Amino acid sequence: MNDAEFSAKYGPWALVTGASSGIGRAFAELLGAKKINLVLTARRAGELEQLASRLAAAHAIQTKVCVADLADAAAPAQLLAATADLDIGLLVSNAGFGMKGPHAGNDPQAMADMVMVNCTAPMLLTHGFIPRLGARGKGGMILVSSVEGLFPCPNSLGYSSTKAFAAFLGEGLWAELKGAGIDVLTLLPGATNTEAPIKQGYDVSKLTNVMQPEEVARLALDNIENGPTLVSSAHYKAIFDKLLSMPRADALKAMASQAH
Ligand SMILES: NC(=O)c1ccc[n+]([C@@H]2O[C@H](COP(=O)([O-])OP(=O)(O)OC[C@H]3O[C@@H](n4cnc5c(N)ncnc54)[C@H](OP(=O)(O)O)[C@@H]3O)[C@@H](O)[C@H]2O)c1
Repeated sequence: MNDAEFSAKYGPWALVTGASSGIGRAFAELLGAKKINLVLTARRAGELEQLASRLAAAHAIQTKVCVADLADAAAPAQLLAATADLDIGLLVSNAGFGMKGPHAGNDPQAMADMVMVNCTAPMLLTHGFIPRLGARGKGGMILVSSVEGLFPCPNSLGYSSTKAFAAFLGEGLWAELKGAGIDVLTLLPGATNTEAPIKQGYDVSKLTNVMQPEEVARLALDNIENGPTLVSSAHYKAIFDKLLSMPRADALKAMASQAH
């Protein structure tokens, strides 16, 4: 699909959550280059304003910044209201965060916030956009999950569970909206060089098989019509395909042996 065809189907506006850094910012940059007008949302107003100005000037597009904390239960409805007058053809539900370590050691408030951002927000935003995209008869949604959503990952259990939720939601929506002209792609990245691994205490220079956010976002946009799912990393796809091909109890035992 060339940029004009992409814009005709998924433009003239897109909403990108988690646009202030990493994969979300990469989505915004690539969509801007395709001349799609952008609603950018996250908590950090400064990063969003800077990105919005830069993309508006570089690509002669319109941009709108909506600062929102998706851990706040009211935020999805506020975003839907703030964008009600825009013809949005693409929702990129990307905002998310994780935490590592044994489940018992994680902070309860942070876990509750993680469920709001990684599960409740995509649930309510997709719900809000179905009638809007349905009325257009064309458009798309990209839900960013993780390879950790494919199988329970010890020492990352809360996050892994939220990403399983996102993958279920995205795959189910793909099936439900198939006849409505709305393309739904669930993106399952492996390790990607963003702020996320740094916030979780990793030294990114020591990680192997790490992809750049631009590659991940580009793969998703290139494959938006090829749902239901896209695992962006061949390395992680091979690992999780192997686990998923095993009897579940054996795969869980293999995971347990890695965890201890
Ligand atoms: N990097 C990886 O290795 C990897 C692997 C698999 C999946 N993923 C997924 O990819 C997505 C993007 O993550 P990333 O790797 O690009 O990480 P990132 O650079 O940390 O970006 C996360 C984005 O989510 C936003 N966000 C976080 N908490 C939020 C909140 N409470 N309210 C609103 N926005 C919030 C952040 O914006 P503010 O801080 O400005 O609010 C930021 O824009 C996430 O869903 C993540 O789980 C990442």
